[in-house]
Amino acid sequence: MEERSDTKRWRALLLLHFRGTFRLRSWNRHHSVTVSLEEEGSQMRIKHYLEHWMQAFLNLDHRSQILLGCTIGLVLYGTLRTWDDTTTHFGSTDNRDGSVVSPARREKMSKNRHKGVDCRTYYDDLIGKTPLIRLNQLSEMLGCDILAKMESKNPGGTGKDRAAKYMLLEHLLSSANNNSNESIDESPIVEGTSGNTGISLAHLCRELGLDLHIVMPDDQSNEKKNRLEELGAHVKVVPNASISNAHHYVNAARTLAQTLEGTHIDQFENLANTNAHYSTTGPEIWKACEGHLDAFVMSAGTGGTISGVSQYLNEQKDQQRLQGEDIYASRRLEVILADPQGSSLFHRVKDGVCFTIEQRERKQKKHRYDTIVEGVGLDRVTANFQNAQIDFAERITDQEVVDTAHWLLKHEGLFVSSSSALNIAASIRVAKRIGPGNRIVTIICESGQRHYSRFYNPEYLSECGLQWPNESDSEED
Ligand SMILES: Cc1ncc(COP(=O)(O)O)c(C=O)c1O
Repeated sequence: MEERSDTKRWRALLLLHFRGTFRLRSWNRHHSVTVSLEEEGSQMRIKHYLEHWMQAFLNLDHRSQILLGCTIGLVLYGTLRTWDDTTTHFGSTDNRDGSVVSPARREKMSKNRHKGVDCRTYYDDLIGKTPLIRLNQLSEMLGCDILAKMESKNPGGTGKDRAAKYMLLEHLLSSANNNSNESIDESPIVEGTSGNTGISLAHLCRELGLDLHIVMPDDQSNEKKNRLEELGAHVKVVPNASISNAHHYVNAARTLAQTLEGTHIDQFENLANTNAHYSTTGPEIWKACEGHLDAFVMSAGTGGTISGVSQYLNEQKDQQRLQGEDIYASRRLEVILADPQGSSLFHRVKDGVCFTIEQRERKQKKHRYDTIVEGVGLDRVTANFQNAQIDFAERITDQEVVDTAHWLLKHEGLFVSSSSALNIAASIRVAKRIGPGNRIVTIICESGQRHYSRFYNPEYLSECGLQWPNESDSEED
């Protein structure tokens, strides 16, 4: 295991102590309870430290007490003069609610904390607050506003950064709260992932000096595996298998965590994943649209994004309806699942049965989901997906996904992953169904860069029986 430096240890503790924004939500199927573990934990720690310091102070001789008292007074005076007390959190230059601080205050804060350099401190501070862009060509063609939340702009290149941060924080907080000497749990972190969550965890674990073990299926692009290894993760690749098989990458990760006496993050069943999107992605979308949106379209990998965002948006929509102030108050918000071929979720939403024809015995051709789309599609209902509030599902074929990706490249100048092209293809269908004048929000999950060897490889597409679109095809569409 890699040697943890004192700086890393200190950072991990800072993360635990100063993260006033993090609220852990404990869910179950019937109701949800919000527990602010962070606040409770911080209060306990502050009390503990104050008692400890007071005792040390009383043990000093009289002269040292006066000297120390004056020094602390001067430091406090200096700090209070420059520190605007309320909404900042450690190392960040933005307010907790996502709004940006005034330039004057930003300058004060950054000078105060970073000795005159206006910078952000850690990887986790860069997560979230991603831009929402309008796909102009598509919007003009369809007569609807098609807006895309650029989750690819997160530091790890995907929205998985949000989930990874919340899941890791929940683990660190609960282990610190359970630990009488308040040290952080340094046992290895283990996760089963098709790649992206692993990459986000790898960045965060590097920052915190934690050891990371990743189990991934063999149907993912090499780009992801290489990046994980570059980030110092121990990667184990296992053959693709059904979830009922003990060697499925999620089950293999659980077993590995037991063997290493580590912590299995379990993004599929861990509800801190949904909470990340309920607390950040949903509010960011609502705020950017000023409450004016008609549909949200998203695929499901673990179900965390669609679940967290749909719950938040529906809650806001209900409030808007109660207040009934503007024309949007009377309009419904539709949440649509974009599902690739081979995934069972389409029928789960449409007919209430988790089934897909490609998964009939001996019918599978390529792999588990029989799709070229990476990172989304499920063969089961996960705890995160369970809570999603979905109205419709659109099933998109692999060929449509490929064509949409090339269209976006050619007409919007966007180079996106297969899961993002899937979301856009489903948004086009929704726009055609609900008609002009509506606003549809979807997600660009990731850029195309991790997908050269498969999705953007003509030979691989042809092996899968798919056509590489030629120039004139994308011209015509
Ligand atoms: C490539 C990719 N696809 C899909 C998703 C959505 O996955 P989930 O349902 O796990 O939130 C993500 C997450 O941002 C992703 O990075």
